[in-house]
Amino acid sequence: MTEKTVTITNNVDGTSHEYPLHEGTIGPPAVDISALYRDAGFFTYDPGFMATASCHSAITYIDGEHGVLLYRGYPIEQLATKASFLEVAYLLLYGELPNERELVSFERVITQHTMLNENLKNFLDGFHYDAHPMAILCGVVGSLSAFYHESIDVNDPHYREISAHRLIAKVPTIAAAAYKHNIGEPIMYPRNDLRYGANFLYMMFATPCEDYEPGLLAEKALNLLFILHADHEQNASTSTVRLAGSSGANPFACVAAGIASLWGPAHGGANEAVLDMLTQIGDVSSVPKFIDKAKDKDDPFRLMGFGHRVYKNYDPRAKIIREVCHQVLEEMPGADNPLFELALELEEIALHDEYFVERKLYPNVDFYSGIIYSALGIPRNMFTVMFAVARTVGWVSHWTEMMSDPGNRIGRPRQIYCGPEPRDYVPISKR
Ligand code: SDX
Repeated sequence: MTEKTVTITNNVDGTSHEYPLHEGTIGPPAVDISALYRDAGFFTYDPGFMATASCHSAITYIDGEHGVLLYRGYPIEQLATKASFLEVAYLLLYGELPNERELVSFERVITQHTMLNENLKNFLDGFHYDAHPMAILCGVVGSLSAFYHESIDVNDPHYREISAHRLIAKVPTIAAAAYKHNIGEPIMYPRNDLRYGANFLYMMFATPCEDYEPGLLAEKALNLLFILHADHEQNASTSTVRLAGSSGANPFACVAAGIASLWGPAHGGANEAVLDMLTQIGDVSSVPKFIDKAKDKDDPFRLMGFGHRVYKNYDPRAKIIREVCHQVLEEMPGADNPLFELALELEEIALHDEYFVERKLYPNVDFYSGIIYSALGIPRNMFTVMFAVARTVGWVSHWTEMMSDPGNRIGRPRQIYCGPEPRDYVPISKR
């Protein structure tokens, strides 16, 4: 079968060059322009990477027009209601759903890695009590490479796998420790008899003074939220992890870079910003005023939790979370949350407003997730940490996929230079 190609013609000098068209399993093909500069002497320009594929990946597929999200081919709607989070973590990392034996073995391996080196408690004590938990998470995860010298041999598949397991296992422990540091309570050690989500809730809410057993509804809601946030193709934080990893940096430093990128309010930081926005709006009667602010080009205010670079339809994760909100708020004692009613009203008004309809701006994964986190007793400054706990699975899966590819090269974009022409140094006496 003849190779499919695309011809690029330079209308300035009339030259044309052909470039191969790469096709995936599903989704749009991509023209391979890696030889363009050598052939034609110019770069492509795509700030924000609106139409640029950075890699081949078999992990996650998104169809933004139709609101489709697949993890290794499985629809998110099925995984969210049928699988456990570690089952999905295994799927993302290894490419197939585990059988019973594989899942038990994987759960045991992750459980065995949940404890932290005792010296990390000194690191945590170095943070002021009111340090943002994302700052603590970013710093402590990046410091893990100081404890596992052998694991930073990124060319050894054995150490790549152990590092992936350590990160999946230890990020929840660090996250819960950051929360305990914030509230001045003692850090709770992980319990090997608890499942992943229940263990996280235990480390967050237990104290040495009394028994604590995580509630089944809370564990179920957390399991679902972790699955929904586990991966999302080449989003900003995952692309950050890949770019950092392309230089051969150790996996702990790469995931710390991903955490830093996720923290931004345009990305994972939006879930915390949504609750702040809903609190600021306060009442349904103020919604029109804030909708107008979101539409005003001179006003930096945006409707947080709305819009998406890829989804030009309802984010399938937001749909699922909205449904779970109803269930959790009905079943959790005292979790009656006026902010959820406000969010529903805000969504209803925005989705009928021409500005949002025209720009295909729908609620995204961050719009409702904070409502559930609040109902579970998780404070706002921990919302993006929750996102990072789940997304660690996606980050280590993409890092592993990239590092296992013998064709992997350092990522090094070019630019359009718009600085000064060459000029000579001027002595300070003449400036
Ligand atoms: C996540 O990439 C991923 O997959 C991310 C994520 C993941 O799982 O990893 O899905 C998680 O990060 C979800 C997004 C969370 N962020 C927010 O909710 C912040 C609010 N949303 C926006 O900042 C924005 O929608 C982005 C950042 C999400 C997407 O930005 P784009 O793709 O660069 O779109 P844009 O800024 O070019 O907006 C297009 C138009 C503009 O208006 P015009 O210039 O055409 O007139 O839509 C407007 C924007 O002003 N717009 C909004 C808006 N989002 C876009 N206007 C008001 N409120 C908004 N939220």
